[in-house]
Amino acid sequence: MAARRIILVTGANSGIGYDTSYAAAAASPSNHVIMGCRSLAKGAKALEELQARKPAGTLSLLELDVTNDSTIKAAVDKISADFGVLDALVNNAGIYIRDAQDRRSEILDTLNTNTVGPLVLTEALLPLLRKSKDPRIINVSSALGSITDRFDASLSYHGLPAEAYRMSKAALNMATACMHTAYAPWGARVWAFCPGYVVTNLSGEADRQLRRERGADSAETSAAAILEILDGKRDGEAGSFVRRNGQRFLW
Ligand SMILES: NC(=O)c1ccc[n+]([C@@H]2O[C@H](COP(=O)([O-])OP(=O)(O)OC[C@H]3O[C@@H](n4cnc5c(N)ncnc54)[C@H](OP(=O)(O)O)[C@@H]3O)[C@@H](O)[C@H]2O)c1
Repeated sequence: MAARRIILVTGANSGIGYDTSYAAAAASPSNHVIMGCRSLAKGAKALEELQARKPAGTLSLLELDVTNDSTIKAAVDKISADFGVLDALVNNAGIYIRDAQDRRSEILDTLNTNTVGPLVLTEALLPLLRKSKDPRIINVSSALGSITDRFDASLSYHGLPAEAYRMSKAALNMATACMHTAYAPWGARVWAFCPGYVVTNLSGEADRQLRRERGADSAETSAAAILEILDGKRDGEAGSFVRRNGQRFLW
């Protein structure tokens, strides 16, 4: 049997993180997926559901709020004690604030979760990632973070302002470029990845139907594309901003 591979997915109880956790666990008996969740209650329910589907690999639950440094420290300590290594980190947790009451809080909270969280978490996990023979980091970004595309009036989402979210993902893309530059010399591969427009809870439960009506895909399509990256099928594109179906975005 191949060596065990330890994969941490943040925001694993819902949407893309949930489907990615299952896809990665189902892909190989060697895979162990740590489901990082800020709510242990939601995480326990998600873990139970995924285990009931009997994936070939294994899953476990870890409390992890990417905006909370004490849960990050405790999570790093627990992964260190339980596994002593981390092979792949999927920085998936993210928010999109609708109906914000206060502009400054909307922007800062969005940046804190979508940008600062992934960078601080990744840096805290570096000692464990450096112990892997094949370290991989996938930063789940968005087409809305492409500065190039912001000027393209032909895009269906051109009319969506979403400044806070767009800024947070553009900044996550820069964090990806910085990670790639700093980590590639010791063998880590880093990608920014757009999961496509898919049906999840990102813009609220009520918005799920609207997403379906607009032709959004299932989050399983995003999970399948993340699995391709985990499985080495896009290694030649490390350090770039990739999307599903073998395609790429401009930064
Ligand atoms: N859906 C799309 O069409 C789409 C398109 C482009 C990019 N994305 C990106 O895809 C990623 C996943 O989103 P999704 O669409 O799957 O939405 P989702 O169903 O709302 O899932 C988001 C996950 O992130 C978690 N989360 C939020 N804040 C967190 C924090 N501070 N610490 C830890 N976990 C936190 C949520 O936990 P709770 O359940 O506790 O809230 C949830 O598990 C996000 O980065 C999003 O920006 C999605």
